[in-house]
Amino acid sequence: MSTKMYPTTNPPDTLLIVDDTPTNIGVLFEYLTQRGFKVLVAQDGESALEQLQFSRPDLILLDVLMPGIDGFETCRRLKAQPATKDIPVIFMTALTETVDKVRGFEAGAVDYITKPIQHEELLARVTAHLTIRKLQESLIKQNEALQREIAERERLHNEKTYLQEEIKTHYNFEEIIGVAPAMQKVFQNIERVAATDTTVLITGETGTGKELVARAIHNRSARKSSALIKVNCAALPSGLIESELFGHEKGAFTGATAKKKGRFELADGGTIFLDEVGELPLETQVKLLRVLQEQEFETVGGAKTIKVNVRVIAATNRNLQDEVKKGAIRSDLFFRLNIFPIHLPALRERSEDISLLADYFMKRFAAKTNKQVNVLSPGALDLLKNYSWAGNVRELANVIERAVILCDERVLAPKHLNLTAAATIGAEEVWDMEEVERQHILKALKRTRGQVGGANGAAQLLGVNRTTLIARMKKLGIGAGETSA
Ligand SMILES: Nc1ncnc2c1ncn2[C@@H]1O[C@H](COP(=O)(O)OP(=O)(O)OP(=O)(O)O)[C@@H](O)[C@H]1O
Ligand SMILES: [Mg+2]
Repeated sequence: MSTKMYPTTNPPDTLLIVDDTPTNIGVLFEYLTQRGFKVLVAQDGESALEQLQFSRPDLILLDVLMPGIDGFETCRRLKAQPATKDIPVIFMTALTETVDKVRGFEAGAVDYITKPIQHEELLARVTAHLTIRKLQESLIKQNEALQREIAERERLHNEKTYLQEEIKTHYNFEEIIGVAPAMQKVFQNIERVAATDTTVLITGETGTGKELVARAIHNRSARKSSALIKVNCAALPSGLIESELFGHEKGAFTGATAKKKGRFELADGGTIFLDEVGELPLETQVKLLRVLQEQEFETVGGAKTIKVNVRVIAATNRNLQDEVKKGAIRSDLFFRLNIFPIHLPALRERSEDISLLADYFMKRFAAKTNKQVNVLSPGALDLLKNYSWAGNVRELANVIERAVILCDERVLAPKHLNLTAAATIGAEEVWDMEEVERQHILKALKRTRGQVGGANGAAQLLGVNRTTLIARMKKLGIGAGETSA
């Protein structure tokens, strides 16, 4: 017999031997202890079950025929207990009938070994089942870890979705940034009107995001999988606009060499965005009114009526009511377009959005140009907040894009912005009183060619006495040299 040791683990594996014959136990105890196992023993089923309440062997060797409850019943009972059901059981049996061995498996055993016991065989089986059990345990552990990871990932995903929703409702709505109450109102209105087929009129100065809003409405509507067709009414020559919108037949006019579908037909099932609608010629306005009311039109030079299902979103940076008064826009068209107006405030009216937008564009352009710029200096922010932004968000985006290109540091500073002071809001108001006085005195001195006192002097002109003026000049640092400038 080989004395090869079972490769012991630390701590050693524990085996429980259950047998009613003391000599059997003695032999096995000695053999297995020598092979590095820790061995527990029990003389019958009941005392084995009792022992299992406080000890946890890694494997059980179970005799079949014992006084009291037999091996099968012992096995069944320990398989019924959550604490012991996973411990592998190997039967030791002198029974030769196959039926007995099958009963062992039915009771929950993993294997059997026949008496008289061959020690080498016993060792091989014990080792094999311990290995299987360990693999199972590690699989269970891995699986549990995986489950935990999946749960954590799901939690993070939900949290991300939640935060994204939060962000969306708070300041980023379909890529439209804005915390100002007026912008929040815009988001709400987009949300409300998107679900309907109502005509929307978006107004606001150039660069306030009218096109962005039009896209947001389309993207949130049931028509989102159909086309959003854009028409810039200002960019098309008035002679061509009608054929562009409604299409034409071959030969309808000089140059119409083939039949052409109009944008309304292309937008069928989707949305048409009529940008700069205030620029439409009066003749075309009638036809547009009809589409809005009846969803039908005729192509240029065509006799057949075409029916479409199109949602109209119009935008303008003009005051359409003024245009109506001037006679440039038909009042019936205005009323038809103005069913659901959305007005975008100018950027200077919502300075609380400037830092958010500047930060957004800075990060976007930094990523685009592969730069490390990621902080806006307080000075730079101050400049941005006091600028007049005639071109609104588009202008801000352009200024930041240029600044990011010019900036080779992490911090974007006033020197990168290149904003002319003249265009900042209320440039005069920010001068302090002394500066105003200084400029005023300099102006007077210029007119008197530097003469302070006397009948034609600056003091006379300014209505103060000569010594007062000289004292003020000294205080303000106005020297004689400057006056001749
Ligand atoms: N609130 C905003 N958040 C983020 N980007 C914006 C916002 N408003 C405008 N922009 C960006 O500014 C630029 C101009 O926007 P848009 O084209 O929608 O303006 P517009 O009102 O249609 O101007 P115009 O009257 O000149 O056509 C676009 O690049 C747009 O993405
Ligand atoms: Mg536009």
